[in-house]
Amino acid sequence: MMKSFPSLPLLFAVCILSLCVQLTSAEGMSAQASFSKRCEAAVQCIVSNPSNETCGVVPVAPSKQRFLNDTSFSLKLLREGVYLYTEIAYNTLVLKSGRHITLIDFPLAAGSAVTNDSGLLRAIPQVLNGTIPYRVDMVYSHAHFDHIGTSRLVFNFLRRQYPSAKILVWGTLETRKLIRDSKRQLSVKPNIIVGRRGRTLFMSPTLMVRLDIIGGHTQSDLRVYIPPSRAGGGIVMFVDVVFPGFAAPFNFAITQDLRQYIKSHQRVLRLRFDTFVPGHIGLGNRTDVVVSMEYAKSVLEAAKQAVASVTLQQQIDAGIGRVSDPNAAEFGNFFFPFVSVLRPLQIEACFRIVVEKWGCRLGGTDLVARGHCFTALQFLDIEL
Ligand SMILES: *[C@@H]1O[C@H](CO)[C@@H](O)[C@H](O)[C@H]1NC(C)=O
Ligand SMILES: *[C@@H]1O[C@H](CO)[C@@H](O)[C@H](O)[C@H]1NC(C)=O
Ligand SMILES: *[C@@H]1O[C@H](CO)[C@@H](O)[C@H](O)[C@H]1NC(C)=O
Ligand SMILES: *[C@@H]1O[C@H](CO)[C@@H](O)[C@H](O)[C@H]1NC(C)=O
Ligand SMILES: *[C@@H]1O[C@H](CO)[C@@H](O)[C@H](O)[C@H]1NC(C)=O
Repeated sequence: MMKSFPSLPLLFAVCILSLCVQLTSAEGMSAQASFSKRCEAAVQCIVSNPSNETCGVVPVAPSKQRFLNDTSFSLKLLREGVYLYTEIAYNTLVLKSGRHITLIDFPLAAGSAVTNDSGLLRAIPQVLNGTIPYRVDMVYSHAHFDHIGTSRLVFNFLRRQYPSAKILVWGTLETRKLIRDSKRQLSVKPNIIVGRRGRTLFMSPTLMVRLDIIGGHTQSDLRVYIPPSRAGGGIVMFVDVVFPGFAAPFNFAITQDLRQYIKSHQRVLRLRFDTFVPGHIGLGNRTDVVVSMEYAKSVLEAAKQAVASVTLQQQIDAGIGRVSDPNAAEFGNFFFPFVSVLRPLQIEACFRIVVEKWGCRLGGTDLVARGHCFTALQFLDIEL
């Protein structure tokens, strides 16, 4: 157990640890109906006047609610030899086949300290259950320390506990560069580079891990694929693009490339899988990936409509003329018309369209859609 609540000014501290409310079917139906009504009312209020603070926040469906109060880690068996480790808002996969284990991602919630209290150091022996590994593979999903920042801690732990084990570290060139250039030395540099052709990590005839660069969030995010086998259905781990049940936080999870962001969904959907493991929030499935892709496309469409809908009159009403009024503070301010008048009008128009359509389908849409609209508008202007 973690003793204190970690400070969470974090990028993706969206939270997790669901005690998903299980409802019996009759109760479930009426709870669902009453939720839909409340949700629809909140959406209509926001859409009709986005600046009306009394509208409040659009509620999240009971089945999607996640809480931050459970700070212990959890270990869940997804299929024979494949465990999902979850701590606070982050996921790690732990794979075991005989005396060989593979770990995918080493989270360090932004703002947290690296300590031997890390739950992962207790989860690894639990999965090993007395077995002494002869080989450990450590895989980095992408080049962000909040997902790989406890790698050195785990590496040192493995070295101490299992001195005879061979440890291999897998990552892309982008991740290696991040680690090389970082001052904090939180992570061990990868010694197996996953390049454009991808790589396969073979653990047993029924358990292998295919790694392919598909980007979408950073330049070189890995799509981690455990194909279906006699041991169970296919599993995909793909971090920080799809957030099952929720709209992505922060401008499409600060994607560097919206086109690639959308395309990465397609590249996940090409695979045969039942279980989708995101970087954050609970597990998902194919439907969550499809919905996330539809959402992104829909925001792009809304951004196009928004650009076409903003009128000159709206810009005049919003004070665009102040840029040429010698008595106004904005006089001659080159940025004012774009940054303070046009873009906000476009964002609000796009926001209304998106929230009306998605507010009750994906949690948090009302909180994040302005950021998505900004990214989509930017993309239309300079990249499409
Ligand atoms: C703000 O929303 C409330 C409902 O929550 C509504 O009664 C009120 O008329 C709205 N105000 C404006 C200015 O739209
Ligand atoms: C977390 O909070 C939720 C909502 O208040 C509650 O239902 C749940 O039991 C709490 N979980 C823990 C582990 O305290
Ligand atoms: C964890 O414990 C080991 C062994 O006692 C120690 O060498 C190491 O410095 C500790 N690491 C941290 C981050 O406290
Ligand atoms: C751990 O190993 C013991 C025997 O050494 C076995 O009885 C038990 O089922 C194992 N637990 C798991 C979770 O595999
Ligand atoms: C995915 O899970 C949702 C429940 O979260 C379910 O309604 C849906 O049918 C599932 N889709 C697939 C393809 O299994």
